Amino acid sequence: MRNAPSILAPLMVLVACNAPEFHSGKPLRERVVNVYSHRHYESDQQIFDGFTKRTGIHVNLVMADDDEILTRLQQEGANSPCDLLITSDAGRLGLAKRRDLLRPIHDSLLEAVIPSHLRDADGNWFGLTMRARVFAYDKRTVDPSHLRTYADLTKPEWKGQVLVRTSEHVYNQSLLAAMIAHEGRDSALAWAKGIVANLAREPKGSDTDQLLAIGEGIGSVAIVNSYYIGKLMKNTDPARDPARAAIGVVFPDLDGHGTHVNISGAGVARHAEHMPEAVALLEYLVSDEAQALFAEGNEEYPVKAGVPIARELAAFGTLTPDTLDLQALATYNAEAVKLFDAAGWH
Ligand SMILES: [Fe+2]
Repeated sequence: MRNAPSILAPLMVLVACNAPEFHSGKPLRERVVNVYSHRHYESDQQIFDGFTKRTGIHVNLVMADDDEILTRLQQEGANSPCDLLITSDAGRLGLAKRRDLLRPIHDSLLEAVIPSHLRDADGNWFGLTMRARVFAYDKRTVDPSHLRTYADLTKPEWKGQVLVRTSEHVYNQSLLAAMIAHEGRDSALAWAKGIVANLAREPKGSDTDQLLAIGEGIGSVAIVNSYYIGKLMKNTDPARDPARAAIGVVFPDLDGHGTHVNISGAGVARHAEHMPEAVALLEYLVSDEAQALFAEGNEEYPVKAGVPIARELAAFGTLTPDTLDLQALATYNAEAVKLFDAAGWH
């Protein structure tokens, strides 16, 4: 503990105040935090282990899909064991806030580290990492100077070339929600229609599947989250060599605001029983140590200034993130779903 970063100082005080009682050398009461998480990455266990090592607080993890998690929280009500909710999308955190599933936290450390547009103004949720929704293109056939903006991809020159997953996925819904927030409903609908007109195939599969499809020559531009590209570049599976060799990246601009970003973020549950532990975990998740693990282990952009991004992503250039208040992703989610339907993007 002596070498722990100063960021964890308040947390160590907590540990000292609530030191477990010992009997025959064993703690009678273990300090725990119960986490419901939509994140499904191996590197997260390393992060939770790091937290336990620093604080002695054990992390009980329940992993599930975002919608399942929200439904479960709602059904469990006051009996929910959940202390901290982690999702991979700001839209769902906004929804959790609206359903009164979260508890506002005012924490000067979190407020100092996390830029204001990446956290809820009322303290219900906090962004931990950013992911940019970018274009991956086939270097063998594409001139990236033709792909400066999201709107560029709706031009006729990309007919039969665009790869993207279904509109059911929240990453696409949040991108369209951001467009509605900036440009209005009509412009967002026109964009969705333009993409549908240029599809290489019916939307299907994951973001990684779109990248592999570029390697196979099925299409030449894919709309994907940045961390999947970083992970592909790090992957050593020879079956993925064609995609790895073919892919270049552009950071498209959204109406002069920069590239659309979403967050993976967290909020303390309304009925959290282990609130100090949940806040301690939140603080740890924005420490230099955890932010570096998010960046290196899962190719996400740290929210904390000064923490380096992964080498694989840095090689593709600089992200200029849109600073839209991410509450808008929840505000316009339902509208985005309707527009996808109207555009025929299934
Ligand atoms: Fe994902």
